[in-house]
Amino acid sequence: MRAVVYDRYGPPEVLRLEDVERPVPKADEVLVKIHATTVNRLDCHTREANRSTGLAISFVSRLVSGLGRPRQRILGSELAGEVEAVGAAVSEFGVGDRVFGTTGLRFGAHAEFSSVPESARIALMPTGISFTEAAPVCDGALNALTCLKQADLRKGRSILIYGASGAIGTAGVQLARHFGADVTAVCGTKNLELVKSLGADRVIDYTQEDFTRNGETYDVIFDAVGKHSFGRCTDSLNPRGLYLATDGLENLLLALWTSRSGDKKVIFQIPPRQTKQDVLFLKGLIETGKYRAVIDRRYPLEDVVEATRYVETEQKTGNVVLTITGDRPG
Ligand SMILES: NC(=O)c1ccc[n+]([C@@H]2O[C@H](COP(=O)([O-])OP(=O)(O)OC[C@H]3O[C@@H](n4cnc5c(N)ncnc54)[C@H](OP(=O)(O)O)[C@@H]3O)[C@@H](O)[C@H]2O)c1
Repeated sequence: MRAVVYDRYGPPEVLRLEDVERPVPKADEVLVKIHATTVNRLDCHTREANRSTGLAISFVSRLVSGLGRPRQRILGSELAGEVEAVGAAVSEFGVGDRVFGTTGLRFGAHAEFSSVPESARIALMPTGISFTEAAPVCDGALNALTCLKQADLRKGRSILIYGASGAIGTAGVQLARHFGADVTAVCGTKNLELVKSLGADRVIDYTQEDFTRNGETYDVIFDAVGKHSFGRCTDSLNPRGLYLATDGLENLLLALWTSRSGDKKVIFQIPPRQTKQDVLFLKGLIETGKYRAVIDRRYPLEDVVEATRYVETEQKTGNVVLTITGDRPG
């Protein structure tokens, strides 16, 4: 089968298309013929061994992914496709089922086929959507859900979502609205209309207004893009307010510190606890029209390097999808 592989950590150019052995599903696994996958920030961070985040994080990243070289040569965590074969012990899925989900740190989705345990975060695809629409559902939404679950969102609670136009942010706006919270979203000028259409009660353009200086306060501030800080936000939080982080070593330390002292807390769950039940929850939201993954660009699998360069601009709106047709170019 065709797959995108890499043998050393580095820039997007370490990725290349190669013919590799098609995986054989174990007894508890399903073999998925993948029609669409994504390039997300997890792929990018893993591919460069988190080098851009500093030496300490890079070392931890290598402990997880392979010290000298990557243990798993195929990246890609999100997928949508059809079940091609099932192991002897599989009972939840059958051949021909359309499935979607995430393989998480097992990766393996930048390929024509991937073997996934049936207990993994995969489910039957929501009715009425395409493989391209299903592939990017999980990454942003599961990360957002992990954070928002800890904030007791409901009617009467207010949340500000900073970085509302990214994969996590676009999901966060829709989920916070679903939970009944009053949602203020912050993004750049070009994404204002989109973010409003996702259900934000009000939208702030950060190029025009600094939300920390307008006198408004919130029960929860969710930094969905890792570009703000607890220190700069503290005065914008109500008493007993929560700051939800998605990135940054300092937030781990602040989460520990504020859990023991102080009124306002930093919440940063590492590793994030995400379950198959969460994927089924998202499927339900999609089928009732309450959630959709925002797609910025689509690329064929062969253009993975270009797609990755675009994701690394940190300017994508929502998600970047890779489509796999099974047809060999030329
Ligand atoms: N996705 C993952 O796999 C994953 C997992 C765990 C943690 N994380 C972390 O979570 C964060 C968000 O990931 P993501 O995939 O959702 O990001 P993303 O999709 O790459 O976010 C891109 C968006 O961020 C906005 N942005 C860029 N610079 C900004 C700034 N200085 N201030 C405010 N907004 C800015 C841009 O929109 P505007 O033009 O509207 O500003 C752009 O639309 C990252 O720090 C990532 O490392 C990601």
